[in-house]
Amino acid sequence: MNNKRIIIAIDGHSSCGKSTFAKAIAARLGYIFIDTGAMYRAVTLYALENGAIESCIANEQKIEAMLDDININFRFNPERGASDIYVNGDMVEGKIRTIEVSNCVSAVSSIGAVRRKLVAMQQAMGRDGGVVMDGRDIGTVVFPDAELKIYMTADAMVRAERRYKELTAKGDNVSLEEIYENVVSRDHADMTRAISPLRKAEDAIVLDNSHMSVEEQMEWFDREYQRVVGC
Ligand code: DC
Repeated sequence: MNNKRIIIAIDGHSSCGKSTFAKAIAARLGYIFIDTGAMYRAVTLYALENGAIESCIANEQKIEAMLDDININFRFNPERGASDIYVNGDMVEGKIRTIEVSNCVSAVSSIGAVRRKLVAMQQAMGRDGGVVMDGRDIGTVVFPDAELKIYMTADAMVRAERRYKELTAKGDNVSLEEIYENVVSRDHADMTRAISPLRKAEDAIVLDNSHMSVEEQMEWFDREYQRVVGC
């Protein structure tokens, strides 16, 4: 494949396999993969554990005041073939994926000060290219000049079923209805928030993977990548 190390921005709805897809692309190209949703989840976890969120109502002032105390970084985990996220030195990869964090993350990710801090970190991490970054505002706000922008989506029930399988396989006691409601309410929150709402960048290409296998998605990607970098 081509030697030019570009920025690949992947945005889209929650639970549509963005991270799996982004991770596979990064491995294929030898790029760094950055899961920006994990960063919003990490801030949410810290706020939950430090009394800044009650019944999913985020105390904006408290969260803003604690931002400087939240040190987020990623470390590559060769066993997973991906990076684990750390908050103040603690590996929180498992803790950030619970339904409790999922239910509260929209409230935290709509806070301007949180977005400013995380966007600045993301821009620094991707500055030199060779990066696949997934999120909601990567192609629109974080890297509006990214060479390849992909907007991913899938049917909401298909997404809920995938997430349900993942969580129950880990032993989480959740219902499909609860997950479906979370998927739909996060779509709504992500697309209607005042700051950096989820939207397709004009120059993004759409990937609806409702009925596609991971292999089919990779074939689709190879074609699009070659079109952009012109191998
Ligand atoms: O990708 P995810 O579902 O793990 O993301 C968790 C939440 O973080 C999602 O509901 C919206 C928010 N998010 C965001 O606002 N901006 C991003 N770049 C990434 C995630």
